[in-house]
Amino acid sequence: MNQLLPETAITEDSDFIIFGGSGDLSVRKIFPALFWRFIHSQITENFRLISCVRSIISKDEFVLKFRPYCEEAFSSGVATEDSWQKFIKLIEILELDIVSNVGGDKLYEELKSSLSETRPCVFYLAVAPKLFGASCNLLKKNNLVLPQSRVVVEKPFGHDKESALALNQEILNVFDESQIYRIDHYLGKETVQNLMALRFANVIFETQWNNRYIDHVQITAAETVGVGQRVSYYNSYGALRDMVQNHLLQLLCLVAMEPPSHFDAAQVRNEKLRVLQALRPIKQGDVQTGQYEDYIDELKQDSNTETFVAMKVSIDNWRWAGVPFYIRTGKKMGVRASEIVITFKHRPHDIFSKNNEPDSEEFPNRLVIRVQPQEGLRLHLTSKKPGPGGMRLFPSELNLSFDEAFDERLPDAYERLLMDIARGNQTLFMRSDEVLAAWEYIDSVIDLVGQTKPEIYSANTMGPEDKILKKEGRYWLNPALDEDI
Ligand code: BG6
Repeated sequence: MNQLLPETAITEDSDFIIFGGSGDLSVRKIFPALFWRFIHSQITENFRLISCVRSIISKDEFVLKFRPYCEEAFSSGVATEDSWQKFIKLIEILELDIVSNVGGDKLYEELKSSLSETRPCVFYLAVAPKLFGASCNLLKKNNLVLPQSRVVVEKPFGHDKESALALNQEILNVFDESQIYRIDHYLGKETVQNLMALRFANVIFETQWNNRYIDHVQITAAETVGVGQRVSYYNSYGALRDMVQNHLLQLLCLVAMEPPSHFDAAQVRNEKLRVLQALRPIKQGDVQTGQYEDYIDELKQDSNTETFVAMKVSIDNWRWAGVPFYIRTGKKMGVRASEIVITFKHRPHDIFSKNNEPDSEEFPNRLVIRVQPQEGLRLHLTSKKPGPGGMRLFPSELNLSFDEAFDERLPDAYERLLMDIARGNQTLFMRSDEVLAAWEYIDSVIDLVGQTKPEIYSANTMGPEDKILKKEGRYWLNPALDEDI
């Protein structure tokens, strides 16, 4: 598969069938992403987009539901009323009850004409995981599982390793692994893909990318929002299952993996799996949980669910032995930012200090990969302060802001992922063994944390006071606020 597609590469004509078609994910993410790809001509007028809904809704009502999430396309002048009309022509609404299999035959009738061809048929299960098995069975019963069929599932993929195994089995009873696309939307984010470009399309970092030069790595995914309407889902998951098992471990894998020999699905996923398999079981004192102060009021009952977690993760292999990866995520924090900070070791010898006195002004080199918002890279260097007065050093920064550098909108993660599915490219999707290895690790963290009460933290802070890095003479580097970048 050629990964270097031209920007406007047209995707093979496909059918997208969205189960849970009028649900939140579909309305906020899937249809707006399809619209953006349509106005960029990656989706042609030969696509078919079928929104399968349980309670019938008219097409006019449906398009009005997702139109507000497309406003940016209009306000930026990229979309016009004409393109909107052409796009909504591709949409059909179909009544489908997954549990009772009402509507499966109609779906078959709709698709029948193209099933004989090799035209990709993407079934996006934007429904609760408990319906994955029934959805796959419905497709099978109605003869919709063909070699060109693909099935897309979202996280949470299970609640622990055991339930993930069972869920996997339900899908694998119907589809082959090569047809399954498990979405972790973080992998579709531009900066996350750029992390691979940074590491594997440049030579200057690779020689330093190991325990000889790197002191430690920090990964932060901080959100300012609380759990909001999702409180009942969230309460049975918590930050470890909701964010760490997937998004944070995936980021860690991309930082830590060995260079694959090709940028293809099998090789990239093999390398990520190796990282997950090398994670050292966590020990007491290396994980800390928190809960924001009004969580219990939102839930209206007592709960030990963590809305914040910070951990020290160790990777047992030659490259990373002795390099801690500190990861943390939380809701209602003081800043919305996802960032990876690579801190390099101090210089081995300081030629600037006199009489071998330790240099009090030593600023380590740091590479900051800003995943969102204000995507970009910053490299912290040490420079000489201009002017006379000897060699006075001060921290300076090389700043590559993607916004400024590329002068174009960064597409939403779903746009890239949806097009990859249509093209049959699984590189940015999680393979079953990766998901299971991530659960195995997280299950052991959850066992360790057990029923300990998370520490309460005030909203608008960076979570409870650090108890992990401090012991090791380090501290959290808080993401800069947008206006400081
Ligand atoms: C989701 C989690 O997977 O990711 C949410 O379930 C979280 O709890 C969200 O808010 C964060 O995604 P993003 O793209 O806003 O960083």
